[in-house]
Amino acid sequence: MGAGIAEVLARGGLAVVGVEINEDALERGRGHLKRSTGRAVQRGRLTEEGQRDILGRVTFATGFEGLAECDLVIEAVPERLDLKHTVFAELDRVCRDDAVLATNTSSLSVTEIAAGTGRPTSVVGVHFFNPAPVMKLVEVIATVRTEPDAVSRVAELVTSLGKTPVTIGDRAGFVANRLLFGYLNHAATMLDSGHATRDDIDAAMRTGAGLPMGPFTLMDLIGLDTCVQVLDAIYAESRDRRYAAAPVLRELVTAGLLGRKSGRGFYSYDPAETPAAAPAPDGPPPVVGLVGVGPLSDAIAALCERAGGRVHDSAAELSGCDLVIEAAQDAEAGRALLSTAAQAVKPGTVLAVTSVDGSVIRQAMATGRPADVVGLHLPDPSGTLAEIAATVATAPGTAVRAAALLGRLGLTTVRCRDRAGLIVDALRFPYLNDAAAMLGAGYADAASIDAAMTLGCGYPTGPIADLDRLGLDRAVTVLRALHAETGDPAVTPAPLLVEHVTAGVPLR
Ligand SMILES: NC(=O)c1ccc[n+]([C@@H]2O[C@H](COP(=O)([O-])OP(=O)(O)OC[C@H]3O[C@@H](n4cnc5c(N)ncnc54)[C@H](O)[C@@H]3O)[C@@H](O)[C@H]2O)c1
Repeated sequence: MGAGIAEVLARGGLAVVGVEINEDALERGRGHLKRSTGRAVQRGRLTEEGQRDILGRVTFATGFEGLAECDLVIEAVPERLDLKHTVFAELDRVCRDDAVLATNTSSLSVTEIAAGTGRPTSVVGVHFFNPAPVMKLVEVIATVRTEPDAVSRVAELVTSLGKTPVTIGDRAGFVANRLLFGYLNHAATMLDSGHATRDDIDAAMRTGAGLPMGPFTLMDLIGLDTCVQVLDAIYAESRDRRYAAAPVLRELVTAGLLGRKSGRGFYSYDPAETPAAAPAPDGPPPVVGLVGVGPLSDAIAALCERAGGRVHDSAAELSGCDLVIEAAQDAEAGRALLSTAAQAVKPGTVLAVTSVDGSVIRQAMATGRPADVVGLHLPDPSGTLAEIAATVATAPGTAVRAAALLGRLGLTTVRCRDRAGLIVDALRFPYLNDAAAMLGAGYADAASIDAAMTLGCGYPTGPIADLDRLGLDRAVTVLRALHAETGDPAVTPAPLLVEHVTAGVPLR
């Protein structure tokens, strides 16, 4: 991180002094800077002269005395409070009185780091994201002691470097990691509880929530040891059990399976162990029976037609269907339609229910043939993901058959247990709720929260914009269902959400 930050500063035209612990480490830093700027030259993003200028602005030293004349010092030593304290004691000794002292810590308390110096009012958090030359977000952290002038000087500098500063208070995880790691740990907990498989959870979040990668791929990329370290720090401060690292994470770390960097984590990165891609769904489009009217029913009919499948919606024709989808407006109407449909279909027809109040099992029992019933959820009715939930009464082959039939309609299918929110909504709405709670508490404004997730974590859209797009009433409904199922107070809808639903106004 130190080399990356030095590059950002030198690219911005500033003179930089890079300090390392010894000559070998200094050489590694210098090499990093040369390679990184060299790649930019190769890609035509920097001229050779530009590279020479950048390298010419950075001087290297192994002693802290080299920092005596600096206006700003950014510490990026390993994430250990004792080490940070040792370094800040040295900075306190050698730096000018008017220098700003900054830490790039990801998860330690900036306040605690500052408390170890004789000048806590000059200490600021300046959290760059990896790789620093590429990522646009910088979280600027003010403690209760930091002089406003020090914060605004750092934020102005960050802006002048072409980055977006988000200025916030000192809470573990700040904005981006706090929101991201709650979601990542939730995914790991879901895997631990046998709710769904690694591949299904990753596919669900990519296809159903439009994320660039699924949570397990992302955790492997970050490094599972780093994930546990960040979670431990947030848990230590918040005592919110959702940040208590999932047992599977600790198990992998203890086994030395740290993700991409060690060749194996949730996935293996050994080419010899890469599984063959699953075969594309085979066979003609199924004959689909559709019962219930409304927007969802219309969307499913359009989907079947696009795939070239036939859709029957009269009870008399249901006996010729491979799959009957119930898409009623509410659960009670759904149960009535299902019990009639169940009598009309031939044995072995899959009954897929979409109208669920709480769980699929209640609808399944109403059919009188629960072995043939699965839950079906399209997180975005105009998208391509179908989530299929098997209940305790679903026959072993029914969910597999449902996935094959829906796959022949061109849908990507994932399977899970019969739990509120299935995969996509169960993972995304608690994360969105946390963002709304942050906004409600005044920790950060809507633009900052959205910038943190888009610029810092590569999300296509920010959580506050997502809430407005998905519907605040839908968010509250899903969160209430999650709360009813788990009793977890952390998933009760944030008061700000409920207030906006009542007022009928969006968050942004
Ligand atoms: N890696 C990331 O993705 C990332 C992202 C944002 C913030 N951070 C934060 O940045 C900091 C550094 O992380 P990293 O991943 O670059 O760690 P790293 O271990 O890769 O690098 C730390 C460097 O500090 C040097 N160092 C150790 N003791 C020193 C001392 N006393 N004086 C000078 N240099 C010393 C080490 O030689 C090493 O080169 C941590 O606080 C981390 O939380 C990391």
